[in-house]
Amino acid sequence: MNTKLWVVDKDVENKNSYPQIEEAAVLLRQKEVIAFPTETVYGLGADATSDEAVAKIFEAKGRPNDNPLIVHIAKLEQLNHLVSAVSPVAQQLIKHFWPGPLTLVLPKKDGVSEKVTAGLETVAVRMPDHPVALALIAQANVSVAAPSANRSGRPSPTLASHVYEDLNGKIAGIVDGGATGVGVESTVLDCTSDIPTILRPGGVTKEQLEEVIGQVMIDPGLENETEKPKSPGMKYTHYAPKAPLTVVEGTRSYIQQLAKEKQAEGLKVGVLTTEENHSFYQADAVLSCGKRSEPATVAAKLYEALRAFDAAGVDVIYSESFPKEGIGIAIMNRLIKAAGHQIIVE
Ligand code: TXA
Ligand code: MG
Repeated sequence: MNTKLWVVDKDVENKNSYPQIEEAAVLLRQKEVIAFPTETVYGLGADATSDEAVAKIFEAKGRPNDNPLIVHIAKLEQLNHLVSAVSPVAQQLIKHFWPGPLTLVLPKKDGVSEKVTAGLETVAVRMPDHPVALALIAQANVSVAAPSANRSGRPSPTLASHVYEDLNGKIAGIVDGGATGVGVESTVLDCTSDIPTILRPGGVTKEQLEEVIGQVMIDPGLENETEKPKSPGMKYTHYAPKAPLTVVEGTRSYIQQLAKEKQAEGLKVGVLTTEENHSFYQADAVLSCGKRSEPATVAAKLYEALRAFDAAGVDVIYSESFPKEGIGIAIMNRLIKAAGHQIIVE
């Protein structure tokens, strides 16, 4: 398949017509799969009302069928076609955080494709805070099911070039709107439990949610691997660079020592660090993902750095760890998954 590429800029809001987005929207309506930027990561979109279109997402990604998709909407009225009830708490959250990186799991309406929900009684919905995403969904005039636009298991794409790397030839098109922004995916919040529960930490933090609705829980399956996570996607290996990654809870000197030991065995070693610590390390590839003092910059650069280790051709990677607070919870969640749970504590 020939994958079309459209380059667009973010001032789409101020234009009456945008031929590239119109072309992409027509293909979406024709049940093709299109990658597009959101404020978190690039999404791989298809008409959520069409089994045929949604099946193409799973095919292109190589995604297991029991992992449900998030449905993206551009206008609130689209929610009525998807969910059977919006609790007062969910309404408050929508008012506060949409458009934005918060996905709400709500009771689904009959008729929502089983391919989207993987047979669950709930559906995950969000309104992305990105002018290109909103324009595309509005133009297509359908709700758009969209997982992250990476091959299953790979780091999520924060640039159109990452999508191209993974999916060129497998999808109808890529709308290139530049770098995404937040860098980690949306927070997935189950609003069907008595106390709303975070199934996947992401762009909106637990603290931010609690300021608006009071107590929020974190799915015990996230912390404790023996429990079955409620968000089916959290059980798969994810975000992984090609070389094995180990997260180190320890000092810079300890990480440097681990790197030296591997080099002595003849291996090429990568270190994932931050701008503050970059000059401290000697290894074959020392890559920094943002500033430790500004965790949002780490979230924004994390996946790009993980992908860059592939290009560097290292054999093993050690990563610094981050405080598990605010957006740091999402950063550590992704890092630990990328590491397949390999953690060394000094
Ligand atoms: O930021 C994001 O959320 C990005 C952009 C493209 O919007 N999308 C994304 O989709 O990360 P995906 O498919 O990579 O992750 C969706 C997550 C998975 O962990 C999935 O299991 C969970 O949401 N999920 C979807 N529907 C669910 C449901 N009904 N109940 C529980 N978890 C659900
Ligand atoms: Mg994903």
